[in-house]
Amino acid sequence: MSSLFLLPCAAAALAPETPPLKSIAPFRIGAAINRTQSADGDPVATAIVTRQFNTVTAENDLKWEKVHPGPNRYDFEPSDRYVDFGTRNGMFVVGHVLVWHQQTPAWVFAGEGGGKLDRETALGRMKEHIAAVVGRYKGRIGGWDVVNEALEEDGSLRTTPWLEAIGEDYIAKAFELAHDADPSAELYYNDYNLWKPAKRDAAIRLVQALKAKGLRVDGIGEQAHWGIDDPPLEAIDAELAAFRASGTTPLVTELDVDVLPRDPDMWGADLAKKAKIRATTNVYPDGLPDAVQQKLARRYADVFGLFLKHGVGRVTFWGVTDATTWLDDFPVPGRVNYPLLWDRKGREKPAFEAVADVLEKNIGR
Ligand code: XIL
Repeated sequence: MSSLFLLPCAAAALAPETPPLKSIAPFRIGAAINRTQSADGDPVATAIVTRQFNTVTAENDLKWEKVHPGPNRYDFEPSDRYVDFGTRNGMFVVGHVLVWHQQTPAWVFAGEGGGKLDRETALGRMKEHIAAVVGRYKGRIGGWDVVNEALEEDGSLRTTPWLEAIGEDYIAKAFELAHDADPSAELYYNDYNLWKPAKRDAAIRLVQALKAKGLRVDGIGEQAHWGIDDPPLEAIDAELAAFRASGTTPLVTELDVDVLPRDPDMWGADLAKKAKIRATTNVYPDGLPDAVQQKLARRYADVFGLFLKHGVGRVTFWGVTDATTWLDDFPVPGRVNYPLLWDRKGREKPAFEAVADVLEKNIGR
């Protein structure tokens, strides 16, 4: 009699858990972690990261403004903790990012004596920074985003202080310096919206020109800050196929799926405009409706299908759970977003199951 009652419970207890993503993904799979998480201050996130993933990226702690805030002033404590977290957990540790126009302190772009920044000074700063940061983690950081966001949407080179001071070869210089500082590290070019054909083709040309100079480039990183409806799957499919055909491994470096309605004007809007956009687009302040939850799961299944099809080298989510996503504040501050595989309490969302399902079905194919 009692066994009749016990049986269903025992069966439930024995029901196989979804295997960790890292055990079923044919590519490296990971997440960006923040300063609290590197310091083991977020047990919910740590449990997820150590169970599911085999690679981490520092969400902010290796950016110039954090690690090198003043001339001759480095703050390596948080980045040391980050690298230690990854190493201790046996993960592939990614360095993000060496040369970018954002999150770089103003002094880096200021000319000596208040004048315009000249080529030699800019190159000298770049060289010192890369030698110090890459050199410190030589042999421990496995791959670096060397240059981030150097392209405009039309494929032209973005006019950044680096380009203006140094000229077009600033990108090649950055790759050369990174390789000098750690010849064993993988080196990547990273950007967003690379599904747009003009930008995609420019990234391919850029990487091919670097390789033609004899420089090491191991991957093109698509940030993949995507929406629930856009970019179209066909565009992502064509993008990954084009990267593969070009001979450089595509990486998905900052994946998240924004579920909130997008306003074409929201990217560059001023604060007043953003407040208006918040009022009309913060549509799920109290939770994600089930229909959208399911749609998010389908979107994740679809893009993972493409990652498998094209053999990407890595997929990194930009954050661990919805509790700490940057998309609550970008591009419009103060909204509630739901872009990741775990909810605010760290519970698996249908999107997690959908990803695991696609990866499991792929095994043995
Ligand atoms: C974001 C971080 O997630 C935020 O915490 C920070 O305030 C701004 O930067 N592209 C990149 C990342 O390459 O470094 C950005 O990270 C997101 C867009």
